[in-house]
Amino acid sequence: MGHISGRHFLQIPGPTNVPDRVLRALSQATIDHRGPEFAQLAREVFHGLQQIFKTTGTVVIYPSSGTGAWEASLVNTLSPGDKVLMFETGQFATLWRNVALKLGLEVDFVPGDWRHGVDPAVVEEKLSADRARKIKAVAVVHNETSTGAASRLGEVRKAIDRAGHPALFMVDTISSLGSIDYRHEEWRVDVSVGCSQKGLMLPPGIGLNAVSRKALDASKSAKLPRSYWDWEAMIRDNKTGFFPYTPATNLLYGLRESLRMLLEEGLDHVFSRHLRHAEATRRAVRAWGLEILCLNPEEYSPSLTTVVMPEGHDADALRKVILEKFDLSLGTGLGKLKGKVFRIGHLGDFNDLMLAGTLCGVEMGLFLAGIPHSRGGVAAALDFLSSR
Ligand SMILES: Cc1ncc(COP(=O)(O)O)c(C=O)c1O
Repeated sequence: MGHISGRHFLQIPGPTNVPDRVLRALSQATIDHRGPEFAQLAREVFHGLQQIFKTTGTVVIYPSSGTGAWEASLVNTLSPGDKVLMFETGQFATLWRNVALKLGLEVDFVPGDWRHGVDPAVVEEKLSADRARKIKAVAVVHNETSTGAASRLGEVRKAIDRAGHPALFMVDTISSLGSIDYRHEEWRVDVSVGCSQKGLMLPPGIGLNAVSRKALDASKSAKLPRSYWDWEAMIRDNKTGFFPYTPATNLLYGLRESLRMLLEEGLDHVFSRHLRHAEATRRAVRAWGLEILCLNPEEYSPSLTTVVMPEGHDADALRKVILEKFDLSLGTGLGKLKGKVFRIGHLGDFNDLMLAGTLCGVEMGLFLAGIPHSRGGVAAALDFLSSR
């Protein structure tokens, strides 16, 4: 196909739209990563990340995808055969479990229906039953990007405390960081796993671990083999603003800019903006007469909405029509949800008119693809957006 005019609508739940300010920052000339200018850049980025994670402690930055940051969380803190409590909230929880299994960890994987977040009562039950203290870590995906269900981390923390269990608390913040209220220190998370391409509004390529004192202590006796992911050399070199191996210099320029943007807007405003766009999207979905995959309103994700297709209709065929006609990318169904759902990403650098355009594309696509639905989803969303 030749040139397509106008800006592409990238409404998958990550990677997200990279704002112009960040694109311009990325395009600066690469500098010496062992020179003084770089050290200043690194210091600014670490300081900004602490504010985003809400921690005064250590943050580790990898040139990696989120999957690398998952691996780092496990290999730095655990030993072969250690038991980890994980929850089948969806595809990403399943993939993190697979990483743990491949590393030789034992996983108690609590089954789930991919329509809910983690049940804090089950966390308490499992940990209370573990009298021998065999469980070394509890790992939760905050915002399950495959389903659009966000776990209530404050409640999960309380459940761990009620059980009086010493397990490490690990959280995947990959599609929540910078979009959904997140409190590393207040919730006493030991390792928060993040990456660049979602709420941080960057291209893929940076993986993050925010690390507690307790996790650092655990890393001293953890026996899983690690080299690239080893926190020790990173933390040692980061103290002077440098890295043990070549960092993703230009992505760090972009990260400095995106952190400035988030802090200029104010995190509370960022979070309420995401909540508002999520509510408008759900109003559109309901007006279309379609079903939202997440069943618990308390767990509705502020950063994406997963829509269930009517029986006998293929979500990917609909997505294809929408992409070809309107140059709008929506998220595909992952794992066992393939073809059954599509996902609308409403996170990152986003505003009311971008959401209106996205929902228009979906509504026109539903019509063109012959999907049974009611018109009026866009109108319901606009009513909500213009009433506040
Ligand atoms: C919640 C969550 N965890 C982990 C990942 C894996 O990250 P990556 O694909 O960057 O390795 C993703 C990717 O979308 C995700 O959404």
